[in-house]
Amino acid sequence: MQVTFEQIRQSPEIRTYIKQADASLLALGFTEHSFAHVTRCAETASGLLSQLGYNEREVDLARIAGFMHDIGNVVNRHDHAISGATMAFRILDNMGMEPADVAAVITAIGHHDDSTAFPVNAIAAALILADKTDVRRSRVRNRETINFDIHDRVNYAVEASETVLDRASKTFTLTLTINTQVCAVMDYFEIFLERMILCRRAAEFFGLTFKLNINGLAVI
Ligand SMILES: [Fe+2]
Ligand SMILES: [Fe+2]
Repeated sequence: MQVTFEQIRQSPEIRTYIKQADASLLALGFTEHSFAHVTRCAETASGLLSQLGYNEREVDLARIAGFMHDIGNVVNRHDHAISGATMAFRILDNMGMEPADVAAVITAIGHHDDSTAFPVNAIAAALILADKTDVRRSRVRNRETINFDIHDRVNYAVEASETVLDRASKTFTLTLTINTQVCAVMDYFEIFLERMILCRRAAEFFGLTFKLNINGLAVI
């Protein structure tokens, strides 16, 4: 059976896990990983595959993987990609999804977390690019700037962020406008070096070069 993105998006079960996972991350002091984050990931990942000419089903599977990718945080932040993939397997199998489609989604979810991330297929590569480039002020929940950690600072400093695929120059660019009074560009490197390496590797999967532009400056 073809399980659609709309079925996933409206599933009370999946919505519960997303909510509860984010509640745990809130308690742990993490940035927002709720509907805003997963919806944005779903849109970026599916939009990228669509622009690259992947078929409708693959685009939809990327959207589903994006929406479900962080549910494993409900178990624990540690190894949440693995627990999330395991949870998604059971949920999607119960919904009657075709094994090949289930495999595509759980592979992407299982390979999205920083330490074990790898663009093993197009959906995984798109999810990595979508997830690692979601930086924005609205992800910061700490209301006291004095208590900001580096993740808060880096996200809070972002006044505008955009990802653009340019097929002519074969580049995928993350363009950020950051307030350098809140956060120095160097802070970005401290936090983002690992992520940017992942983005580069994921972009290479599609034959693209990953570029990072901060305040009009080509940083990578
Ligand atoms: Fe994650
Ligand atoms: Fe995420």
